[in-house]
Amino acid sequence: MRVFVTGASGWIGSAVTDELLAHGHKVIGLARSAESAAALDAKGATAHHGSLDDLDSLAAGAASVDGVIHLAFKHDFADYAGAGRSEHAAVQRMLDTLEGSDRPFLLASGLASGAVGRPLTEDDASPHRGADSMRGGSEDLALDYADRGVRPVALRFAPTVHGMGDHGFTSRLMELAKERGAAGYIGDGSTRWAAVHRSDAARMVRLALEKAPAGSRMHAVAEDGLPSRDIAAAIGDYLGVPTVTVAPEDAEAHFGWIGHFFGMDVTATSARTRELLGWTPTGPTLMEDIAAGAYALPK
Ligand SMILES: NC(=O)c1ccc[n+]([C@@H]2O[C@H](COP(=O)([O-])OP(=O)(O)OC[C@H]3O[C@@H](n4cnc5c(N)ncnc54)[C@H](OP(=O)(O)O)[C@@H]3O)[C@@H](O)[C@H]2O)c1
Repeated sequence: MRVFVTGASGWIGSAVTDELLAHGHKVIGLARSAESAAALDAKGATAHHGSLDDLDSLAAGAASVDGVIHLAFKHDFADYAGAGRSEHAAVQRMLDTLEGSDRPFLLASGLASGAVGRPLTEDDASPHRGADSMRGGSEDLALDYADRGVRPVALRFAPTVHGMGDHGFTSRLMELAKERGAAGYIGDGSTRWAAVHRSDAARMVRLALEKAPAGSRMHAVAEDGLPSRDIAAAIGDYLGVPTVTVAPEDAEAHFGWIGHFFGMDVTATSARTRELLGWTPTGPTLMEDIAAGAYALPK
């Protein structure tokens, strides 16, 4: 299949690109810089110049392929609402391009879909609708196109897609622990994060491209929920610094923007995804990655 991948140069997207190429697919990757374009060319993908702000470039990319995997996102936590509006516009334009084609459109999403009081399942719809809602309401926007001649699939990644070289949330927690001389968790540390290794996430995405039905929500989750105090303890052990509790009222001052996410209880199962796709995660756990130095910082 010829696949247009946005975010192909990113943490998850570069692994997805490798996985697709290794399984005989062709990748046309969105690139907004010469560096990203060169990295794609070097691995045998084709660079498609454009950006999330250039909607015509997204439409042209989507029109030229058999399927789209949308992983690009503006991780600007100082303007998260603006990132959501941009996401909404980008997704809308690609979906309008694909309407009536019966082609797959897979998009990155998350598991923070509101507290349901139990681990989230693939049957739990996102409550976020509209450009001003979380991630621009892009999951629901996309899934609505199941009735409009598109095969939309939501890829709900665990809040930590970990591995050697990860620069995401866990990496920020490691940096903070080093800066503060202590690995913090909020309150009693009972809030949890689901986790998945990057290689497992990439394989799940490829299988979803090949098999997931229209309108489905797939969970890239290997570990259902790791308590935040255990994540902090693993970071503290690795760095050789104490693990400390941070009062909820002090969380913003201690953690900055990531405090909001680290204080969320984001647990989810992936039983349906595993069964439907024949997917079994095999990569290291988050604790194994932390202990192995996946988050080693420059001295
Ligand atoms: N990593 C996780 O733990 C995690 C967890 C849950 C959900 N997700 C979601 O999964 C998706 C992929 O995440 P990731 O960790 O791979 O992100 P990442 O490493 O930050 O990569 C982001 C990608 O988006 C591209 N991008 C950013 N702004 C762009 C713009 N204005 N125009 C064009 N491209 C742009 C980047 O291109 P450049 O190379 O040019 O910068 C890069 O390829 C995102 O939607 C993310 O929110 C990730």
